[in-house]
Amino acid sequence: MPRNHLLVVDDEVSILATLKKVLSLEGYSVDVAGGVAVALEKMDRCSYDLALLDVALPDGNGVELLEKWRALGHTLPVLMMSGHASVDIAVRATKLGATDFLEKPLNTDRLLLLIKNTLRLVRAEAEAHALRCQTGVSSDLIGDSKVMLALRDQITRCARAQATVIVRGERGTGKELVARAIHAQSKRADGPLEKLNCAAVPNELIESELFGHEAGAFTGATKQRRGKFERASGGTLFLDEVGDMPLSMQAKLLRVLQERELERVGGDDTIRIDVRVVAATNRNLEEACESGEFRPDLYDRLNVLPLDIPPLRARRDDIPILSRHFLDVARGINERPAMTFSDGAVRALTEYNFPGNVRELRNLVERLVILTPGDTIDEHAVARCLGLGHAKTASGVYRPGTPFRLLVEDCERSILDEAIRHHGGQMASTARALGLERSHLYKKCKALGLRESKTNIGEDSAN
Ligand SMILES: Nc1ncnc2c1ncn2[C@@H]1O[C@H](COP(=O)(O)OP(=O)(O)OP(=O)(O)O)[C@@H](O)[C@H]1O
Ligand SMILES: [Mg+2]
Repeated sequence: MPRNHLLVVDDEVSILATLKKVLSLEGYSVDVAGGVAVALEKMDRCSYDLALLDVALPDGNGVELLEKWRALGHTLPVLMMSGHASVDIAVRATKLGATDFLEKPLNTDRLLLLIKNTLRLVRAEAEAHALRCQTGVSSDLIGDSKVMLALRDQITRCARAQATVIVRGERGTGKELVARAIHAQSKRADGPLEKLNCAAVPNELIESELFGHEAGAFTGATKQRRGKFERASGGTLFLDEVGDMPLSMQAKLLRVLQERELERVGGDDTIRIDVRVVAATNRNLEEACESGEFRPDLYDRLNVLPLDIPPLRARRDDIPILSRHFLDVARGINERPAMTFSDGAVRALTEYNFPGNVRELRNLVERLVILTPGDTIDEHAVARCLGLGHAKTASGVYRPGTPFRLLVEDCERSILDEAIRHHGGQMASTARALGLERSHLYKKCKALGLRESKTNIGEDSAN
């Protein structure tokens, strides 16, 4: 491994000499600078892996120097050292991305450990970044549990093949992410990726969505329109919630998958298609076949390469890393850069069952970032947040400090939750009773992270 190159900036000659000796003995190559001007010059000429930076310098101060480096685009990790740093200075340095603050006199063991850990972290991040660039979207799939490693492997193998893939998993497990990763790693990656959510499109429109239509094919079809299959030509068509496709449409889809050609609605021309289909479902399609809700012949067609994503509770090892990932994202969006989880919070998250899987975890973390006043999210905050979003009456919904959007979502969630329960989980009758389109109810439930119940297709087609 190449030697790491460090820069030490301090005004005291004796400190520079000691640090140079200690760090060189540890195998680092070390440069020193006695002030801001020299440090700027050295940084200009050389590239360093890490800098140790004193606060009080003869020609300026360390925080200003750090500010200049950052402005010049130097992203290296910086450890600040000071005998008497004020909170103010520490805050400024942290905002500029200083990794840590060391009290003088320096404890050599602690210093060496900190340098080692910091360099290791930076290296790991660089490697992860390189991997992301190499493999495209797939590394956006966070998690390093055995299950996830096996899943990544399967994704790569499915991507190489041309056959239809069916991604199976509970809601919120990452089926769409996996489908996108398969496309991104396939030979079709430069082609389009089109998606159709079979549960969200009203039954009477699904055929024209998939196959397109000619002008005048039906009321409202004023212009010719290409469907998803044609748009996905040369690429991948992602059929989400394929288990919710109406039976009549299943027969037509089967034909297209077999013949590799289609006619637009209201048209006679046969159009050849060059599309790879990736389907996803959170329903047990074998059961659906047995109960007559899904065509077994279509199931066989789709089930060439099945890919199962286990629920989050079956891979709890992934929860800490996923939580931190979502925290990073939410910190950025909500401009709360200093937020962290306490160990207790991570433990509480790891113990929770997450019926809504990764999506529920993501929403929970976003909520925690918005609702937690301080910089540390502890186990109490997690427990409080897990209690939210459940049954709530119309009065007492106002919580000072909670954004309007979240309050409204909480109300919507409890209304839909109650309504679905009242109708024994039947989405079609719930939708009817609420005066909503079934597809709209589905979308709403999904957006709110609500469990959608098994749909009774017979009932739906009467809808
Ligand atoms: N392994 C993962 N790493 C990072 N983010 C993930 C992972 N798995 C899921 N997510 C995130 O969780 C959310 C839900 O994922 P996705 O939409 O792919 O799930 P799904 O299985 O398609 O859900 P549904 O059945 O409700 O459609 C998304 O925001 C996605 O980015
Ligand atoms: Mg999905």
